[in-house]
Amino acid sequence: MERGNGHGPILVIGATGKTGRHLVARLRRLGEDVRAAARSTPVRFDWFDESTWEPAVSGARAAYLVDAQDEHAAERMRAFAPFAVERGVERLVLLSARGWADSGEPELLATENALTESGGAWTILRPTWFMQGFTEDEILRAPVRTGELPLPSGDGMEPFIDAEDIAEVAAAVLTRDGHEGGVYALSGPRALSMGEAVDTIAKATGRAIRYVPVSEDEYVDGLTARGVPPGQARFVAKLFGWIRDGEDAYLSDGVQRVLGRAPRDFTDFVAAAAAAGAWDD
Ligand SMILES: NC(=O)c1ccc[n+]([C@@H]2O[C@H](COP(=O)([O-])OP(=O)(O)OC[C@H]3O[C@@H](n4cnc5c(N)ncnc54)[C@H](OP(=O)(O)O)[C@@H]3O)[C@@H](O)[C@H]2O)c1
Repeated sequence: MERGNGHGPILVIGATGKTGRHLVARLRRLGEDVRAAARSTPVRFDWFDESTWEPAVSGARAAYLVDAQDEHAAERMRAFAPFAVERGVERLVLLSARGWADSGEPELLATENALTESGGAWTILRPTWFMQGFTEDEILRAPVRTGELPLPSGDGMEPFIDAEDIAEVAAAVLTRDGHEGGVYALSGPRALSMGEAVDTIAKATGRAIRYVPVSEDEYVDGLTARGVPPGQARFVAKLFGWIRDGEDAYLSDGVQRVLGRAPRDFTDFVAAAAAAGAWDD
């Protein structure tokens, strides 16, 4: 078993995902030795296959953690984090969510707790909704493409954040000292309603797209009709309910605090995504 020595690679779990992909690219641009891991990468990492853990952590000096995103995520983190610490991984950075902390529901913070109780040096990132939900998550991208978004978010507002900003923050806390024990809430620079977000995409793409406020029950019915499992559909509807109730609308300054600059605006994100053909057929 190789031990961390301050010079090993940085392990990026979730390396194929919305933040992990950009983090891998950024760290490589910084000249860092990066070990990209997911179920589909050459270094295969699976939260549910412990035989994949040793090759992923061996010799790594730091790790970025995107959890298993299901009801077993906390239990998997409780097993994995001490496993990594014991093998010399000196710094663990978790992608969590601002909404988990705001919810007051202890089970939504169970993954964070599993990390902070692991005995390792940790940092937690708590972002708002990602702008990339509109380009990479079919739950939002598919209705944008059909031209109608029925969502249960009323006139509530969300300060969407660019996943590239999260990746840049992650790169900073993984490679620079002084962030141990830090909890960074990360939002974009302004809150938008779903109607405003959709109008921005409509203007940039020239497509006719409209937002249709619906009830949570109607939304759940619509999602299950599209094949989303009912439990997942209800959870997603609940997240939109937090937006509708105004609980998500406030801004957080984590990007400014870590990077010393403002986060990217939604309009700039949409312009770049439209130019890259994110909503093309
Ligand atoms: N999306 C948002 O708006 C948002 C907002 C706030 C917080 N978050 C948090 O951010 C995290 C990531 O969410 P996301 O939607 O952006 O997902 P994502 O990072 O785009 O995709 C998930 C990543 O995890 C990997 N993965 C999935 N299951 C895995 C498993 N069993 N073992 C190992 N790797 C696995 C996937 O790669 P493979 O499929 O190749 O394994 C992929 O790289 C979640 O914890 C979420 O709660 C998301």
